Amino acid sequence: MNHAKWIAHFQRNHEQRAEPDWSAPFSLRESVLKHLRPSLAEYQLGDGGGPACLIAGDAEQFRSSSDAMRQIVDLWFAEEREHSRLLGRAVDRIGARRVHEHWSFTAFLACRRAMGVRAELQVLLLVEIVSTVYYRLIRRHCTDQPLRDMCSLILRDEAGHVAFHRDRLASAGVSNWGLGGTLWEGQFRLFGLAAAAMLWLTHGHCLKALGARPTEFAREIHRELSRFLWRLGRTAQARTRPAVPATQLVGQTA
Ligand SMILES: [Fe+2]
Ligand SMILES: [Fe+2]
Repeated sequence: MNHAKWIAHFQRNHEQRAEPDWSAPFSLRESVLKHLRPSLAEYQLGDGGGPACLIAGDAEQFRSSSDAMRQIVDLWFAEEREHSRLLGRAVDRIGARRVHEHWSFTAFLACRRAMGVRAELQVLLLVEIVSTVYYRLIRRHCTDQPLRDMCSLILRDEAGHVAFHRDRLASAGVSNWGLGGTLWEGQFRLFGLAAAAMLWLTHGHCLKALGARPTEFAREIHRELSRFLWRLGRTAQARTRPAVPATQLVGQTA
């Protein structure tokens, strides 16, 4: 894995981040706001508002695999903390009360502490994939420009996080090709659908109030999971393809 590429990515992504205009005129209806308030408040806690670091028992093993990996993980979680800050501004804008604890978040943290770091990384990746759909639907359906601008910033970051995980997995030899790969893909899709169902159960009322449909949510989830798996297979395949000998290259161009 090219660690320098990811450090450069995170440092570059830190630049040119226009802050949403939180003081812009506000026109959301109360029928929408009453669903949006608890949803964004819970997301403000869940997306970077808790311990913004890996917390599995053996997390240090992954972080300390190299100085570069430690730096990448720190840069990744710095962006998660930034998501919580942005969501906090959104929560204030719509007149919601900030949430400092929630049973679902406490259970989520307990599970992450109990599992190994590989499983924790997969859980975080799946949450990032399904949250991408959450932010995308808010951006698509919400009429409030600062909220849409916030979603654009978070979506930009999450695309980078998901790509980092894809690179990390492909470098570790994970692929959805072959029998082992098919089994891996099966469990990945299953847990992905479970994460999506949890998201719809807890935040579906907010997305519906904004105008999103359940079929639209399901279609986006299917697309995001499939896109990730397809790209992972392609990346892993490119890594295992033997290098073409220089003599062959000369023959091809002659
Ligand atoms: Fe995030
Ligand atoms: Fe993320």
